[in-house]
Amino acid sequence: MTRFTFSLVRRSSSLLALALLAGTQGQTATPTAVPTLPPPSALITAQPIGDSIFPALGQAGLDVLNYDLDLFVDRPGRSELRGTVVLTVTATQPLPVLSLDFLGPQVLDVRWEGLPAPYRHDQTAGKLTIQPPQPLRPGTLARVTVRFAGKAGVRPDPDLPIDVGWQAVPAQGDRVGANFTLSEPDGTRTFLPVNDHPSDPATFTTRVTVPAGYTAAASGVERAEVAAPDGGRTFTFEQAQPIPTYTLAIHVNQFERVDAAAVPVGVAGSDVLRRDYFPVGTQADTRAAYTSTGEILKVLAEWFGPYPFSAYGSAIVTPRVPALETATLSTMPVTSSNTRVLVHETAHQWFGDQLTLADWSEVWLNEGFATYAELLWAQAQGEAGEDIVRGWYARAGRSQTRPLVATSEAQLFDTTAYIRGALALHAVRVTVDDAAFKGYLRGWVAGFHNRPVTTADLLAYTRTRLGATAGAALRLWAESPELPPFRKGKHRHIHRAQGGCACQATPHARCSSRCSSSRPSRRASSGRPSGRLLSPCTMGTKRNSGRAIRSRRAVKATTKSARSSKWALSSARSGKGSPDSRSISAGCGSKPSSSSLSRRDVSRKIDALGRV
Ligand code: TRP
Ligand code: ZN
Repeated sequence: MTRFTFSLVRRSSSLLALALLAGTQGQTATPTAVPTLPPPSALITAQPIGDSIFPALGQAGLDVLNYDLDLFVDRPGRSELRGTVVLTVTATQPLPVLSLDFLGPQVLDVRWEGLPAPYRHDQTAGKLTIQPPQPLRPGTLARVTVRFAGKAGVRPDPDLPIDVGWQAVPAQGDRVGANFTLSEPDGTRTFLPVNDHPSDPATFTTRVTVPAGYTAAASGVERAEVAAPDGGRTFTFEQAQPIPTYTLAIHVNQFERVDAAAVPVGVAGSDVLRRDYFPVGTQADTRAAYTSTGEILKVLAEWFGPYPFSAYGSAIVTPRVPALETATLSTMPVTSSNTRVLVHETAHQWFGDQLTLADWSEVWLNEGFATYAELLWAQAQGEAGEDIVRGWYARAGRSQTRPLVATSEAQLFDTTAYIRGALALHAVRVTVDDAAFKGYLRGWVAGFHNRPVTTADLLAYTRTRLGATAGAALRLWAESPELPPFRKGKHRHIHRAQGGCACQATPHARCSSRCSSSRPSRRASSGRPSGRLLSPCTMGTKRNSGRAIRSRRAVKATTKSARSSKWALSSARSGKGSPDSRSISAGCGSKPSSSSLSRRDVSRKIDALGRV
């Protein structure tokens, strides 16, 4: 089938030009070998995935199954890193070239099944194009090795005065230098060659070598910790369920790792390992929020179904950045270390990390569900859900509204995505009773985690599962240009539970985890509902086209290798038989911003993110 057209481009750079380019980068490690094979006489440009918001990201027809990553962080706190990644790839259509997203560091060499392969790295376009000996065909697997070293690339956040991707936190005062990933939506390509789109989640094996005294943490289960030269250590993590590239966590810091009792909320009641990483010297009030993690997992697993991964916890970071739902290991700034944000990021483990987006325009499917989880948690603590929902409605009414599917980058993380998204789910809830709503949420996760999701999927599922009234309610909330009217519905879910949480002198036992949060939320302190809590500058952070999705589904049904791919793997787990100047350490106010946003713009943006 020739659904995708390839255009031929003339080779624009000679070997010499490549060598010169490489030589101008001033990297710590100079590439030892520019491609020794002649570059292809004509490089074929690959078709990106076709995301409606980020049209250049990814490669259509490429299916990365696993990234096996060896990373060396020789000087924590700086943006240099070096490493090797082995990608195990297959295709859903013949691919004459591989086109990975990669902004930096410098590529040292590329191998295809162990043999040197010609490549071109365009750091401006952020594409690493690799020529296989013969086209990659559906049903075949290939291992592609990329060795790289140098400074991480730069990708300014679309909305906030930070760069997403590899973060460098220089030493300051008592604090040692540190690094961590913060990559939503497309920051992973700043430090790793990837198919950087949520519709192509993959498994990860991550080995990180750090100097003496340092600890590395990453998404997945820790498998090994061994000595490295000069007193350093190498930590190995295995993320056995596929996750989107932006949710990969890697942290390097002088951490204290705190293990807690495993929580039996995994698939078929299996234990979920519990560990949190606190930078040495983290204050007790920051640590307090994390004592609720086990309880949060239990409450959310009750509503959403089994927790999808084998471990969960948080890695705490010191810069004032937004919290991020990195898989198995939420990235939690000190300034966002409160229960509500933790609930939100934990809920994303199901919505965003396990269930993945087909297109970035669908991001409300992550944010709306994660925000709704804040209500479910609050109600489980005996709080008045009614107040929360009314508060959401009032906030939605104060901000610009739009249909839920975003049409621009600026809309991705706005009030509509978070608050109107949550209200849309509430509009569904009030048409049925809570048992039905729980079955609905669990069914969405269980039935849709084996392919990227869209709003159309949710609408169709809602109609089928709950009937025409619920379907029509969601449709109105999804599609109306105006904010739909607030309806109570015939089922009264949202009543003040007996002994609602007052969070005064001695809070009720079931409220204590909320009330003991180090920074009481506004809701707790004023009784007024609100969105997420953040510090003054804390939040200042597609889909495959239908045809690509269909082609993925088709290939799953027809090729053996794809059937044994990540999608099959994640279904099996569900038991269904079938996941420098760029440093931000100085805090948001003092960081030279790559964005032109003023402080005021930033705080407006923060408000819009629904967390004040
Ligand atoms: N998904 C994050 C949340 O709601 C918010 C977010 C958007 C973010 N873009 C980011 C976080 C970039 C960190 C970096 O929890
Ligand atoms: Zn979120």
